[in-house]
Amino acid sequence: MPETSALYPGSFDPITNGHVDIIERGLRVFDRIVVAVLENPKKAPLFTTKERVRMIQDIFASKKEVEVRAFDGLLVDFARARGTGVVMRGLRAISDFEYEFQMALMNRNLAPDIETFFMMPNVNYSFLSSNLVREVAALGGSVEGLVPGPVARKLRDKIKKSKKVQSS
Ligand code: PNS
Repeated sequence: MPETSALYPGSFDPITNGHVDIIERGLRVFDRIVVAVLENPKKAPLFTTKERVRMIQDIFASKKEVEVRAFDGLLVDFARARGTGVVMRGLRAISDFEYEFQMALMNRNLAPDIETFFMMPNVNYSFLSSNLVREVAALGGSVEGLVPGPVARKLRDKIKKSKKVQSS
């Protein structure tokens, strides 16, 4: 049987346990997941593209079925270049639906041969987003259980460094 694969795109600034959960669920359906890290999110990211890619690679170092790549430009162009016909996205709550629906239909309009698959993360992560993780960490709150341990450490270092720069 030919190998099945899906592209899992996002900003991952930083990757959360909700993202990790979606990737693990995706591996039950697809042979290979290509995590596609957006190079230039609209807002200036806290972590550089290289750092975001590296963190995800480290988390999945023991899983050769997970590949991590940076991309810019249109997602459908990247999917075509990779020869992947499936885009996988997570839906945490109904509130995600409108944006995801719009994006899936725009992608279908651009590339009718590419399908979007939605997966629901564990309900424990339905409140979780990278934005909130960054905010909580910046204000000194605990992000334990919300992001993988090494990501929590990198967040603390990053925030410490940016506070030092601000106060100098
Ligand atoms: O984690 P995010 O920030 O919700 O991910 C959004 C992402 C990266 C999936 C989306 O912004 C994207 O696909 N950007 C690439 C540009 C593109 O293809 N735009 C048209 C699709 S609507």
